[in-house]
Amino acid sequence: MAEDLTVIAGSRQEQYLSLIPQIRALLEGEEDLVANLANTAAALKEQFGWFWVGFYLVRRDELVLGPFQGPVACTRIRKGRGVCGSSWAQEKTLIVPDVEAFPGHIACSSLSKSEIVVPVIRHGEVVAVLDVDSEMPDHFGPTDQQYLEEIVSLITF
Ligand code: SME
Repeated sequence: MAEDLTVIAGSRQEQYLSLIPQIRALLEGEEDLVANLANTAAALKEQFGWFWVGFYLVRRDELVLGPFQGPVACTRIRKGRGVCGSSWAQEKTLIVPDVEAFPGHIACSSLSKSEIVVPVIRHGEVVAVLDVDSEMPDHFGPTDQQYLEEIVSLITF
């Protein structure tokens, strides 16, 4: 596997196109889930500098904090609660341009202004979610959805 990351400047799409083969290389030949989630979160944080990037894992009837990069965060989220629990319940990616306008948003940090949550679905079941927070409002859009969904599809659960 590659052990260093080349970070580039460019459009959001150019950044993803540079990053995705590098994430593939990081995941190649490694089957440990924690290692792969940790490196995926780190690679996203390093390229984009987002405020918070990490995974919550489905454990019975709640999400439990997994590997992440950023400030400490709430450890458990129930299904249907917050953006993460809603993405799990609805089994779809949620883009929240203004977290304060999202009913039930769980504020792990008041600095987070917008958010995207991508569910990881395996054999028809949500097994985890990828959560990304930005300090800037309205920071995520369809390009992020497309490429973050591709990135989570690369991880073997
Ligand atoms: N804001 C999330 C909680 C997780 S933290 O942002 C890291 C939510 O509403 O589900």
